[in-house]
Amino acid sequence: MNKQQSLFNEQSQKCTIQNVGSSTGKSYRAIRHDVVRAKQKQNANEVHHPDEKINQIKNIFENTSFDKKPKILELFAGQGNCTKIYQEYGEVTAYDKKYLKTGDSYIEYHRLIAEKKKFDVVDLDPYGFPNRFFPDIFLLMERGVMFITMPKPYVNILNGITRTHLISYYDEHNPDEQTIVERIALFGLCHWRKIELIDSVDCKSVWRFAFAVERVKATEYTGVRNR
Ligand SMILES: C[S@@+](CC[C@H](N)C(=O)[O-])C[C@H]1O[C@@H](n2cnc3c(N)ncnc32)[C@H](O)[C@@H]1O
Repeated sequence: MNKQQSLFNEQSQKCTIQNVGSSTGKSYRAIRHDVVRAKQKQNANEVHHPDEKINQIKNIFENTSFDKKPKILELFAGQGNCTKIYQEYGEVTAYDKKYLKTGDSYIEYHRLIAEKKKFDVVDLDPYGFPNRFFPDIFLLMERGVMFITMPKPYVNILNGITRTHLISYYDEHNPDEQTIVERIALFGLCHWRKIELIDSVDCKSVWRFAFAVERVKATEYTGVRNR
């Protein structure tokens, strides 16, 4: 190794997250967390995983039959990476507070429920956990597909608020993929929707789930007769 190469290696070493961490007192994970938040603020595609989402959407539509042109609801639509794909398949209603200025998804979904609106496809894509939408989001569907972006708890910094939030929804502060999927199936049953995971894509810090959703009769589902 010549002198120039060794100087370059020395400089690159100084710029690793570990080294920045030791000089700032922050852990590797804490700095990575800050970097992800900064990229989310800039709306960088790196934190949106557009290719993975688009491929999954296309794959699901090509393998799902709808009786009529599907009605699609996109919550947290961003700048429309997925909207333009959804528009190829159906009639899209999209909400994004910052970019489309169409409304606050947390408020709009309550309004849509109150108006008894129904959709064939729902896409739930917030930056953080989508748990606040459970179980009532399932009231917006009788039958169809729900796409959900779920941050992986174990790659996030679990402060006291996040830990308590996850315990409230999943009974544990660091649920794994299977626990989360099983609990979402139970959230569906709160409103008598049978939920089946049909696809899961690993996008580094998040999973992108696709669930088949179908309204069921409580009596038939449980095999219990009402007298
Ligand atoms: C993960 S990004 C969505 C990315 C988009 N679905 C895509 O695939 O390109 C989350 C989006 O939620 C928006 N947002 C944040 N809080 C919101 C809220 N309360 N209601 C609606 N949109 C919100 C942000 O502006 C951001 O565009």
